[in-house]
Amino acid sequence: MNYYVLTLFPEMIENGMNTSITGRAIAGGYLSLETVNIRDYSLTGNGRIDDYPYGGGAGMVMQAEPICRAYEDLVQRIGTEPRVVYLTPQGRVFDQRMAEELAREEDLIFLCGHYEGVDERVLEEIVTDQVSIGDYVLTGGELPAMVMMDAIARMVPGVLSNQESGQYESFQDGLLEYPQYSRPEEWRGKQVPPVLLSGHHGNVDRWRRDQSLLRTLKNRPELLARVELDKKDRKYLQSLLDRTKTPRLVSAAPDDDGAVAAVLTEEEQKFLAKLLAI
Ligand code: ADE
Repeated sequence: MNYYVLTLFPEMIENGMNTSITGRAIAGGYLSLETVNIRDYSLTGNGRIDDYPYGGGAGMVMQAEPICRAYEDLVQRIGTEPRVVYLTPQGRVFDQRMAEELAREEDLIFLCGHYEGVDERVLEEIVTDQVSIGDYVLTGGELPAMVMMDAIARMVPGVLSNQESGQYESFQDGLLEYPQYSRPEEWRGKQVPPVLLSGHHGNVDRWRRDQSLLRTLKNRPELLARVELDKKDRKYLQSLLDRTKTPRLVSAAPDDDGAVAAVLTEEEQKFLAKLLAI
């Protein structure tokens, strides 16, 4: 995967990407990164690349021509015309599925905007994908570009070691990740859930699946609605409802998933009852 980034702050991208796992992947040749400083394509030669917005209003707008020149110079040099991702809160919201789709590309160009925005005409001319990383406004496109490059890189063969690639499975099967524990068995009075020490792989797998269901229900119910639930999943979710409705059962139940966490709010109960009725 070859990343190209058109930006006013190349050092920000390079410092970020050359660190940790992406840094190792770049050094190992699994990823490549080239930054292009849009300022080098200033029309006036003094580094200025922005101007006042037509129609008035606060802030400055990045001009079309320097960006287009930076882009044309790049595609001529690399000899291909990759997809161009423009980072903007107005774009489609980035998610794991989009990361998987973009990971199939060989080359990707990211265009990072600043100030109040970028002249619309250059976006029409060169951009193939407008992408947002969430409903909040950042000061520029560099951090969103790095977020995307990091998420995409994880799916590029060779970037993660075998050990690393098994981790952070959240979203890969539509559910959030189950909780993890390491030594010691007891830390500040808190015990590791006994099932994880049992050595019974079947029970561990079931417990983890249940925890994923519980977390997804509590934190991201809209994701749970899209997951295919099997008989055992339904049985566990039904048991949560039953235990919540009959508090006596909470203490009577084997404390395998943390009875407190498993008590559902009224809203969660309603959501679950509807889900299980389908
Ligand atoms: N630029 C500023 N805010 C952004 C966001 N939330 N996503 C993508 N690009 C942005």
